[in-house]
This record gives sequence, C-alpha cells and structure tokens, in this order.
Amino acid sequence: MTKTARAYTNIALIKYWGKKNKKLKLPYTNSLSLTLDKFYTDTKSSVIDNDEDIVSLNGEILDFKKSLRIKRYLDVVRKMYDFDEHLKIESVNHVPLSAGFASSASGFAALAASINSTMKLNLTNRQISTLARNGSGSASRSIYGGFVEWHAGNDNDSSYSEPIDENPKTDIVLLSVVISEAEKTISSTNGMELSVNTSPFYTNWSTLVASEIIEIKQAIAQNDLQKIGEISEHNALSMHALTLSANPPFTYFAPETIKIIQIVKALRQKGILAYVTIDAGPNVKIICSNESVNKVKNYINEQLPKVSTFEAHIGKGIQYI
Ligand code: DP6
Repeated sequence: MTKTARAYTNIALIKYWGKKNKKLKLPYTNSLSLTLDKFYTDTKSSVIDNDEDIVSLNGEILDFKKSLRIKRYLDVVRKMYDFDEHLKIESVNHVPLSAGFASSASGFAALAASINSTMKLNLTNRQISTLARNGSGSASRSIYGGFVEWHAGNDNDSSYSEPIDENPKTDIVLLSVVISEAEKTISSTNGMELSVNTSPFYTNWSTLVASEIIEIKQAIAQNDLQKIGEISEHNALSMHALTLSANPPFTYFAPETIKIIQIVKALRQKGILAYVTIDAGPNVKIICSNESVNKVKNYINEQLPKVSTFEAHIGKGIQYI
C-alpha cells in the first residue's frame, strides 16, 4: 500500500524573490518562513504500466496543459534518481484559492515526499527538500514545521531548507485577509524574473535579505513577536518595491491592499500587535498574537465588510498517512 504524503503551506517572512539559476530554481538569497497548520495538500503516487504519467487533482484527471508542469517535474525526478517508471499522481488540495494562499509550496512538497515513499528512494528530509525545490522554490521549506530557513546554496545539493525551530513557543497567529480569489496576472516566477532583470534596486535586495535573516533569527530565538513582525513587514514591502521599480513597473497590490496596510498601521498606533506580509498577489496576511487576533479581525470586518479572513497557526512538517 502506498502512503499518502501530506504537506502544509508556508508563509515567507523573509521572501524568496529571484533566481540565479532558473532550471535548478536556485535563489539569489536565503529565505525564511513559517509553516501553517490550516492549509495542506495530500498526495499519493503509484507506479503504472503506461508510457505517460497521469495526474489527478481533487479527483479529476488533468488535461495535457494543466498537467504539464507536474509531468516535466516527474521527468526531472526520473533523471535525477535514475528510474524509468511512470506514475499516477493523485493530489487533493486543501489550500483553497479562496483562502488567499498559493498551493505550489504544499503541492510540490507533498509530491516530492510521496515519490520518495513510492519509489523507495530513502531520502533524508534535506534531500526531499532539494527535490521539492526543483518543483517550486517555496516548496523546499514546507518539508519542515515551524520556522524554516532555505539556504540559497550554489548547486542542486547545497540549496535546501532546514528547520530553525519546529516547535517555537511564540504565540504567533497569521490572519489571511482575502481581497481577491482570482489567479494572479503575473506569476511569481515571471514577476521575480522581471524584478531581477530590470529593477535597479535588486542588488540592494540581496544585501537587505542577508541582514534581515540574521535579525529575524535573533528575534525568533528571543521569542520577540513584535520584532519578528517589524522585520517581516519591512521585508515584504521591500520585495514589492522591486516590482514597482521594475521596467516596465508592475504591482500585485489592489486598492484594498493599501487600505489594509493603513489599517494595520493604525491598529499598531492603538497598541495592537499587527504587521503585514504580502506575497505575489493582492491578499494580505497579518501577523498577530493570540491576544491581538480577534481585535484585528473585528476591526478589518468593520472597515471592509466584503473581505473574508482565515486564521492559521504554526503547522507541522511532512506527514505520511
Ligand atoms: C512571493 O516558490 O511560487 O511567495 O520557484 O518560481 O515556483 P517558483 O516560485 P514560488 O515563489 C514564491 C514567492 C513568494 C515568496 C516566498 O514564498 O518566499
């Protein structure tokens, strides 16, 4: 019986934004994330007697176009681990677009873990992280729970994630504020490439990330949630400055995104712990504490009755069920 691999999504507090090697998905900088408990992907794989892979998502077989990214990935994995068999991949996604999270991180983490189990590759978690990275960069971090750092590295084996603290004592809560469920118009892959190639600030980004990673790790060790929030917010807004300074410039922000950034700032002035972080889309994630989250949620609902909010806490690394 093949087991199902489960991987949870993660939110980057220090963002990955730019590749120095597109094929291997080697990033220019390290990044650091928090794995979340709410949203995950379950993936089962089995060897099939077929000359093509079959991919199903949420019970539906994907057509050629929709399955292409996964099929290409399976070709890479076959080459890397030297096997010929084709696979049937059955994935069930519990990362609804409606919750404002992308599913490629949990998706490729679960897929890598599942292939490891089905093909009996006996990989270490570090190797599974490397394998997941070949599917989507951020997936390399979803192998572990809690706070995770992805080391940029300079070749396939040296670019992997590592847990910093899998069971942190912090009372961090992440509130996802969903403005739009639409697919983003510029994928993160394309957005980061445009930023790397055309933003005059890209070299400063690498310098900034190097120092913010050191600072946030100190804040995590000291369980200083306010500091974690301050650094995360500054890092996220700096990443978005790279899109605004690209040529041609672009932004993932919607008018409501700015509104929420302003609301969060106003809440802080009232002494409520809240900081924003934003990925490649208009939705905002608010870093709160157990104590502040309800106040933040109520205030957002009052000011923007049309948006929905989802709460998530610290999640675990990959599981086999
Ligand atoms: C803004 O991991 O989706 O969420 O490696 O091209 O698949 P690819 O990109 P992806 O990019 C994530 C970008 C981000 C920041 C982050 O998660 O670190």
